[in-house]
Amino acid sequence: MALTIGCVGCGNMGGAIMAGLARTGGYSLCGYNRTSARMQPLEALGVSALQSPLAVAQAADVLILGVKPYQAAEVLEQMRPGLTAEKTVVSVAAGVSCQRLSHAVDGRCPVVRCMPNTPALVGKGVFALCCEDPAIPAARKAEVLALFNALGVCVELPENKFTAFTALIGAGPAYVFAMMQGLVQAGVTLGFQHKESRDMVAALFGGCATMVEQSTKPLMQLRDDVCSPGGVTIAGVNVLDREGLVGLLVDSVLAANARGKEMES
Ligand SMILES: NC(=O)c1ccc[n+]([C@@H]2O[C@H](COP(=O)([O-])OP(=O)(O)OC[C@H]3O[C@@H](n4cnc5c(N)ncnc54)[C@H](OP(=O)(O)O)[C@@H]3O)[C@@H](O)[C@H]2O)c1
Repeated sequence: MALTIGCVGCGNMGGAIMAGLARTGGYSLCGYNRTSARMQPLEALGVSALQSPLAVAQAADVLILGVKPYQAAEVLEQMRPGLTAEKTVVSVAAGVSCQRLSHAVDGRCPVVRCMPNTPALVGKGVFALCCEDPAIPAARKAEVLALFNALGVCVELPENKFTAFTALIGAGPAYVFAMMQGLVQAGVTLGFQHKESRDMVAALFGGCATMVEQSTKPLMQLRDDVCSPGGVTIAGVNVLDREGLVGLLVDSVLAANARGKEMES
């Protein structure tokens, strides 16, 4: 029988996960959102709209918690009477630890902490999952990992790596968008229309990402392959090296990680 996935809090992230699963197929889907109008696009994809968090807890095997971090405990309390050891709560609430989740469900069911990044909103997310709760049966853990693997790239991480993941991949889109902005701006400076430049730069990043995925060559080798002796690219690359782009990126991620640790303590 198909696994039933329920989502409480079908906003940007919860809604994107449910829409992704609806497109993947093979699951029975249901959800509840405080503002019921937000369920309509999901209903059109085959997600049943239920009437309360408790109704979702009773109906589903895997429960995605998609509310804001400060709402998580209150919503889990409403779901609590419907939770049993056979169910699993998967929370995407940033910064809400497994310990806090277990406490909020009063130990009634296993919990999984998930950290997505914003490209999840367009079906290209990177998800970190922490499945350290010893109460999760191996089969359920495999089901949860398969579910998120269907939505993008999914990595299983110990909880003590979540801050590092957040600094690198959660914050990652901001670094990438900043690099894209610089290139788009350069394109406009060279006389391209803004949209033309933006579309070309988006395709550039997409194409390079595919090359990196498909190749085992070191990144520096891929970079050097583009630099003909005495040519155009090496002239640009020399400036990047002189100004230290690589070191700047490393420092940016380390600063984000330090800030994440500060916020945890
Ligand atoms: N967006 C991201 O890129 C991102 C990245 C990493 C992690 N996250 C995590 O994802 C979670 C959701 O973020 P978001 O950006 O998707 O926010 P969002 O769009 O505001 O979604 C939250 C949804 O929860 C609903 N909600 C609030 N209280 C509820 C309740 N009692 N019962 C049912 N539904 C309720 C809200 O309903 P209304 O429509 O009535 O407000 C809203 O639709 C957060 O915990 C955040 O930390 C998001």
